[in-house]
Amino acid sequence: MAPLDPTVLAGLVGVVGDEHVLTEPDLVAGHATDWTGRFRGSTPAVVRPGTTDEVAAVLRLCAEFGVPLVPQGGNTGLVGGATPLEGEVVLSLTRLRSIEDVDRVMGQVTVGAGVTVAAAAELLHADGWTLGVDLASRDTATVGGAVATDAGGLHVLRWGTMRRQVLGLEAVRSDGSVISRLGGLPKDNAGYDLPELLCGSEGTLGIITRVRLGLVPRPEHRATALLGLASLADAVAVVGALRRSVSGLDLAEVMLADGVALVSEHRGWPAPLAGDPAVYLAVEAGGAEDPVDDLAAAVERSGVAVGDVAVASDSAGRERLVRHREGHTEAINAVGIPRKLDLSVPFGELPGLVDQVRAWAGEEGARAIVFGHLGDAGIHVNLLGAEAEAGDRLEDRVFRLTVRCGGSISAEHGIGRAKRRWYPLARSEADRAASAAVRRALDPAGILNPGVPA
Ligand code: FAD
Ligand code: MLT
Ligand code: ZN
Repeated sequence: MAPLDPTVLAGLVGVVGDEHVLTEPDLVAGHATDWTGRFRGSTPAVVRPGTTDEVAAVLRLCAEFGVPLVPQGGNTGLVGGATPLEGEVVLSLTRLRSIEDVDRVMGQVTVGAGVTVAAAAELLHADGWTLGVDLASRDTATVGGAVATDAGGLHVLRWGTMRRQVLGLEAVRSDGSVISRLGGLPKDNAGYDLPELLCGSEGTLGIITRVRLGLVPRPEHRATALLGLASLADAVAVVGALRRSVSGLDLAEVMLADGVALVSEHRGWPAPLAGDPAVYLAVEAGGAEDPVDDLAAAVERSGVAVGDVAVASDSAGRERLVRHREGHTEAINAVGIPRKLDLSVPFGELPGLVDQVRAWAGEEGARAIVFGHLGDAGIHVNLLGAEAEAGDRLEDRVFRLTVRCGGSISAEHGIGRAKRRWYPLARSEADRAASAAVRRALDPAGILNPGVPA
């Protein structure tokens, strides 16, 4: 790692203050490694601006001296997108924690990029609103990071991904200029939708500093059910029936027996259902009335033979029914560093793809723990125990199969550094050239997350 030019270091200290430029190895270590421990980089400094003006001044300085930056929020991303693998300076945005008044009529609020997803949701509850995106990393993941990755999570089938919650934002370009669109108009077609462009841009186009969020109503009644099923194909059929007839359906998550056993062992929890089903499907609906009857009728109509079932309408009970699903990421990491593949394929292709991936993993002496967001055809494949070459081979086969099935190699986590080798598989040459041109136009200095492709 190249040391930082002393003039730059002094300039950074001049902008954000001594205490917000971290250089001590033990202070920067956590910022240089990703959540999984798979990506380990190094950085000469972690810079922590506290205002948009400070972000702008840091960017101007770094652009002038050609110093590359890796933007970082809560550092919960799973593709190495916030990890300084080439010795970049880390720009930590967690101090951007402003919270403005909730517009109770429009259902909108503006928050700083460093506010966590959980804190943003929490502040809305008193007014009967909530955030349309929720994910298990909610206590650490930031709103800025969620926008920059276009995070998905547990409620995409009802409320869409993070980009659907964004009514506007404020962002700083690498030349220090500030783009501000925080008016929150539901309709505004005056020119390009730059905020939309920044959704999912993984820190390559600008630094998001504030976000105008559209809120969704917090349902008065909710019900969660956990169903034991014989196969993934059955789970797909049940989800199809629910999507057709339960208007308040906001969660449909799938787990397989080996993943559930892993979580039970890691957390010391009993199995969530009796009867050892091969597949578990957690579903949830919310609305003005108790949705239990609607859920039950739709499952019945699906014609699928359901094994054991558990249902809860109180919040502790509902939490118990989804805790094995939310616990997967941590339990998997506790047994080894996984290769995390985050796929989306058309519903009909899903069961076949999962069977094939598990068979290939077995052939390579690895195992594939599969779970995910069945309601929006998103599936997480976690490869454990594959040696380096075998792991590369497996990833390559799975990504190619996914694309052949008409799927995406990144349903929600982004390309980051983990998938840059496979980016050309996902996007054509013309597409990549257009993206590169946009990137050059917005970041002519080429300092924003240069390790992430576009
Ligand atoms: P970081 O990890 O810090 O950064 C992610 C990317 O965004 C990087 O490329 C970074 O450079 C860029 N970035 C961060 N902040 C900014 C900013 N202010 N301006 C510009 N660029 C920025 N993801 C899902 O989509 N769905 C899930 O269900 C889900 N569940 C998870 C569960 C667990 C237990 C964990 C550990 C992760 C999960 N994730 C999930 C992944 C992760 O939490 C999300 O991608 C989240 O949005 C990342 O937010 P962050 O603040 O941690 O961003
Ligand atoms: C999830 O859905 O829990 C996440 O995206 C995290 C993961 O893939 O492990
Ligand atoms: Zn996910």
